[in-house]
Amino acid sequence: MSDSSEDRGKRFIRYRVWGGIVAGLLAIALVWQGFELFDDDSRTVPEVRWGVAQDQDGVGIMVNKSLADRTNFQKERFVSGPSPDSNEPRPSALNDRVLFTETTIDEPSDLLTRTWQIPDENTLDMMQPARRVIGTSSLPYVNANLLQRPFARDWRLVIADFTTHLGAISILGFSFLLALFLAVRGRIPISEGKSGRTVKRFSVLERANHWMTALSFIMLALTGIVLSVGVTLFQPFGDRVLGLAGWISTWGHTIFAPSFALGILVMAVLWLRQNLPTRLDLHWLARFGGFLSSQDSTPSARRFNAGQKLIFWSAILGGLIMVATGVSLLFPFYWLDLTGMSWAMMIHAVIGVLLIAIFIGHIYIGTVGMEGGFWAMWDGDVDVNWAAEHHDLWFQEIKNEDRGQPL
Ligand code: HEM
Repeated sequence: MSDSSEDRGKRFIRYRVWGGIVAGLLAIALVWQGFELFDDDSRTVPEVRWGVAQDQDGVGIMVNKSLADRTNFQKERFVSGPSPDSNEPRPSALNDRVLFTETTIDEPSDLLTRTWQIPDENTLDMMQPARRVIGTSSLPYVNANLLQRPFARDWRLVIADFTTHLGAISILGFSFLLALFLAVRGRIPISEGKSGRTVKRFSVLERANHWMTALSFIMLALTGIVLSVGVTLFQPFGDRVLGLAGWISTWGHTIFAPSFALGILVMAVLWLRQNLPTRLDLHWLARFGGFLSSQDSTPSARRFNAGQKLIFWSAILGGLIMVATGVSLLFPFYWLDLTGMSWAMMIHAVIGVLLIAIFIGHIYIGTVGMEGGFWAMWDGDVDVNWAAEHHDLWFQEIKNEDRGQPL
């Protein structure tokens, strides 16, 4: 069925209006995340109930004051290691008084505690006294004397700030730019319009594998987001909803990993050769594929242009890193020690956020961003005019191979 140019024009305007609306909503979400980033709520504030009971002689107040000073250290969230500029906690001038917290002595749990104290071969590595930094603590509360390792502080910064708030800001920010691009530039049309004749672009195997990988990735991304920021997203709906979302996501995040791993391996086998970089890619990148202006022509490309090659390599290399770190997290301390586990978690989180942003861009261009692209991956065929415009050298090859048969 042919499309009148008036209908086509109206549809293209509708895309731009939707781009504007979505950009507005994303801008609101961005402001909210920006506010959350600088909100101090995620700091751990210790509570000492023991001291409050002793207030007759002022000990409780001193304990609380001293701990409050200590907590102020945590405000220096972007400084790693000891923060020289922050106020030093006041030493608790307790004279001859020493504060102890007493453990409850009851036989079975005491036995259990003792058993935990004896390291087995898996935990031995974590218990090495030689690797600990030993010093003097001014804290008045014995249990608080276990200080944080500097690396643990960096780890917390990456996990608590980077991948939650900054992660959300990157994903929302990138989506905002895409929506803005849609509002300003509009959907990229096929310049010559549709010809009504098609050419085969992807085989059944290529499409089946693409959709298996895509579905797995989307499920991994959604469940991963719930695992990292699920409390913020689901707590308002109550504990039952939060618990259910957490349970589904914990299992889902493992269940969809094997099909994703298989998908990227098959993708590598099918498309690696056509995704090797060539000189043509520099030319394509320098002109940003001709996407930025409607006056610009599309630079030459073979089966995959430079933008698609970047998507391919992100899927393969990023995917391999995610699988390797993910499997390490699934089997804690089997082949990584505490430092290794912390690195695995940070890399998994940071690359995960990057991949989500990259694939939002890919999904955008494969659906609303460009006319005619989606069908390549859905039924395998693309319009001849689309092929000639975006992949001229590949289209020429196909024509040469099929010489004699009408396209
Ligand atoms: C709803 C989600 C997705 C949609 C609508 C989509 C759409 C498409 C389309 C239309 C193409 C073909 C472009 C062409 O004709 O050249 C394509 C190719 C491709 N897709 Fe997807 N895709 C999705 C998700 C994913 C995901 C999650 C991955 C990987 C984890 C992925 C990896 C690839 C790769 C490597 C290619 C070949 C290179 C390229 O064309 O960029 N896709 N996709």
